[in-house]
Amino acid sequence: MSSKEKRGTFSGSLGYVLATAGSAVGLGNIWRFPYLAAKYGGGIFLLVYIILVIFFGTIMIYAETALGRMTRKSPIGAFTSFGSGFRFKLGGVLNAIAPMIIAPYYCVIGGWVMKYLFAYLTQGMKNMADDTFFSNFISNSESAEFWFIVFLLITLAIILAGVKSGIERVSMIMMPALIILAVIVAIFSITRPGALAGVKYLFLPNFREFSIKTIVAALGQMFYSLSIAMGILYTYGSYMKKDVNITKSGNQIAIVDTTVAVLASLMVIPGVFAYSGGSLKALNAGPSLMFITLPKVFQGMGGIGHITAILFFVLVFFAALTSSISLLETCTSTFQDQLHLSRPKSAALTTVLCIILGTLSAVGYGVLSNVTIIGMQFLDFFDFISNSVILPISALCTCLLITYAVGFDRFKKEIEISGPFTRESTFRVIIKYVAPVLLLVIFVTSILGAFGLYKI
Ligand code: PHE
Repeated sequence: MSSKEKRGTFSGSLGYVLATAGSAVGLGNIWRFPYLAAKYGGGIFLLVYIILVIFFGTIMIYAETALGRMTRKSPIGAFTSFGSGFRFKLGGVLNAIAPMIIAPYYCVIGGWVMKYLFAYLTQGMKNMADDTFFSNFISNSESAEFWFIVFLLITLAIILAGVKSGIERVSMIMMPALIILAVIVAIFSITRPGALAGVKYLFLPNFREFSIKTIVAALGQMFYSLSIAMGILYTYGSYMKKDVNITKSGNQIAIVDTTVAVLASLMVIPGVFAYSGGSLKALNAGPSLMFITLPKVFQGMGGIGHITAILFFVLVFFAALTSSISLLETCTSTFQDQLHLSRPKSAALTTVLCIILGTLSAVGYGVLSNVTIIGMQFLDFFDFISNSVILPISALCTCLLITYAVGFDRFKKEIEISGPFTRESTFRVIIKYVAPVLLLVIFVTSILGAFGLYKI
């Protein structure tokens, strides 16, 4: 019992929801979701995504949170408290490794956001609206590396200072501010001439655009955005009090996260239509989409565009920061638990890891632009490995753990400590049958796709 008492807990439902939403809402919603939606057919991607969130994402949130709360451990400890065999270790380790791969390149993109913020603060807004501004910046390795390190150091400083409650308090103001500002920019973007076609593209599903790739992309994005299958929800669940309703708070997180993703798409996609007529090339711009389209929207806003841009990047910076904190925090606590290192030493190890992997991503479009792994630049490769390869397997391990080691009855008891187990039968069917099949399909198709053996 003594170790239980030592473990910190969130103050209550609000503390848990805020911290988890802080981790969930980030670059995934504002930067990643819009470019995937643009690339994979707009409406059909959104539809598949929402169905997946309702039937799979929320279910996984309940699963991981309840397992964390039941065991009071982060992923490796949570898995091995049900058995000591290899399969238990594998499940825990995969859940713990994912954030170590994501954190470094996440900080690189955090650096891109800072660069834009700095540029808007020190220059007008004309330069950034230029098509080549972004590519010039990321191909300038020193600059990309510099901003990556700045972002990483800020995240680390916060983690080391341990100002967790401060961060929570600030997110209470920043999150609503982000949403309000996003609504304003989205309204502006939608009302540009020609932008309505973008709204249609985003909301009207075109079933001819549907393929297995839509599901693969939407599922990877959902894991990423909801911070699923990477140990975070286990860890946060382990800090959760027994009287917080798991299903209700899980639903709230999913709703907030999806709302921000849709708002971000409403800022970006109609902008693409207004400023480039929705050309396929512009829609396919990939990771650079937000950094190229939004500056054009801000420029189009005239005088208030400049201040809007500054506010916007401040808020995106903050959203990215709360997520990167959760990523680095999880890596640090894994090192602390598994390697029995002190907190500063674990943080140092996390830093070294981030600098090495992050540098590859940061300079991957510059000095290392000729180096590719299975046809991908470093950043895209890390994104692919974590979201399309590791995440499906670690999610699969969670499903198998519940079905075969924990047992549904024991799981149900944990949920019912704090409220009714709504959608219990959906939960059982998804965890036992649907999810394992879906996850295997995703895993196999991504691997085949990456090696060019299957055209997705
Ligand atoms: N969910 C975060 C986002 O959408 C990213 C993230 C991934 C955070 C994994 C923590 C863990 O930006």
